Amino acid sequence: MVFDLIIQNGSIVTPQSTSRNDIGIIAGKIAVVGNLDGSEAKERYNAAGKYVFSGFIDEHVHSRDPGLTRKEDFTHSTMSAAAGGVTTILEMPNSIPPVKDAASFHARAHVLESKAYVDFGLWGMVLGDYNRKDLPELAEAGVIGFKFFWGYALDKKTFALIYNFSASDDVRMPPDEGEIYDAFQVIGQLHKPVAIHAENSHVITRLTIHELAAGNVDYASFLRSRPSYSEAMTIQSGIFLAKAAGVHLHIVHISSGEGVELIKEARRKGLPITGETCPHYLVLSDEDYPRVTGNMKIYPPVREKHHQNQLWEGIQCGAIQTIGSDHAPHEEKEKKGDIWSVPAGACGVQTLVPLMLNAAAQGRVSLNQVAALLSENPARIWGMYGQKGTLLAGADADITIVDMNVNRTLRKEELFSKNKINPFEGMNVQGTPIAAFVRGIQIMENGKLISGPIGRLIKPSTSCQAQW
Ligand code: DOR
Ligand code: ZN
Repeated sequence: MVFDLIIQNGSIVTPQSTSRNDIGIIAGKIAVVGNLDGSEAKERYNAAGKYVFSGFIDEHVHSRDPGLTRKEDFTHSTMSAAAGGVTTILEMPNSIPPVKDAASFHARAHVLESKAYVDFGLWGMVLGDYNRKDLPELAEAGVIGFKFFWGYALDKKTFALIYNFSASDDVRMPPDEGEIYDAFQVIGQLHKPVAIHAENSHVITRLTIHELAAGNVDYASFLRSRPSYSEAMTIQSGIFLAKAAGVHLHIVHISSGEGVELIKEARRKGLPITGETCPHYLVLSDEDYPRVTGNMKIYPPVREKHHQNQLWEGIQCGAIQTIGSDHAPHEEKEKKGDIWSVPAGACGVQTLVPLMLNAAAQGRVSLNQVAALLSENPARIWGMYGQKGTLLAGADADITIVDMNVNRTLRKEELFSKNKINPFEGMNVQGTPIAAFVRGIQIMENGKLISGPIGRLIKPSTSCQAQW
């Protein structure tokens, strides 16, 4: 047997083990993992002294394409992903138009496929009664799951998220709990997971009005306007509704200790509830605001240090299964201004892996846990496991190679995003991805992109999803 490529002598990291081995690749798939001394290959990659992971997945990316491409587009977000060692992204549905029915799914998939530097899946958007009848055709079209932006008012015409909502604006408010239950029930019958942005819009709108009326402009007032209990209330409602409706609920970007506790408790009872947090909640706290300013305005907010500690504990105790970046850039000029006027969101897809490797270097998590959080678990939750998320024979040869001896400073100039909104500017990290392969094709070497837009749309397999 002649392999197309052998990745040799690396330390292979899976959630279960780390071992010295070679990987033989044929026709874009992993053919063998084992000792391949003496085997023939058209190409070789020497991974001696390096760690070899199943390609990393960022389950939470907002590329703004189509609709808001002045902020970001799919070319730039997927170049960023590739440079940062991410081989698959799952793209959030809040483009303009949003991915709300089969027609918008196919139209978006067509636009994005020509631009993709990495493989990608698409989320579908839940708009309550407005598109409940379209959810089955969205599942059939191939969404990986559904996202419900609970806590957001939406623009009436475009469905775009409204970041700084004032009570007098003419907007589409989030559906009530009855409507949400109906949508969850449909999604449960489709055997798809539903993810929620957990904030209570009534609470945050009213508290924001109070803070504005008092003339407060500091970060503490912003935190008071979006308290952790507003996240916890919404997670709690979500858990009850998901249980009643029989749907797998995934809480994205958990930012609070209370959120971790609720998910831990629900999982202890055996409910199909999973959780994601993001690097900004794990490495930043309110104390960083004076230095980072507007680039740190993200919803839900980066909170006090004790939440950060509880989130790390949530990873250790299994309440949190995935880390997504919530890559959500805006124009640089939009991010300059006071805390109430700038839009929420920042870049993240390119710094996701280096920050988690750095956490491993610091002993916060093991490299095996990184393999679970950034590859196997998201692949399992989103119905891609087997094709993605594993180094087992038969899987796509998506591989990220990591050098844990590299020490570097994260700099905005290195970001491939259109607008380099970097809340991690100047942070030193130990450990970095140095090469990435998608279906056996090398796409990145030492942070440089070395292939064109070869990414493809990935559709989940429902049988995989039902097993999570
Ligand atoms: O800060 C955020 N920005 N949080 C979100 O939930 C959405 C995102 C965006 O799309 O801008
Ligand atoms: Zn998001």
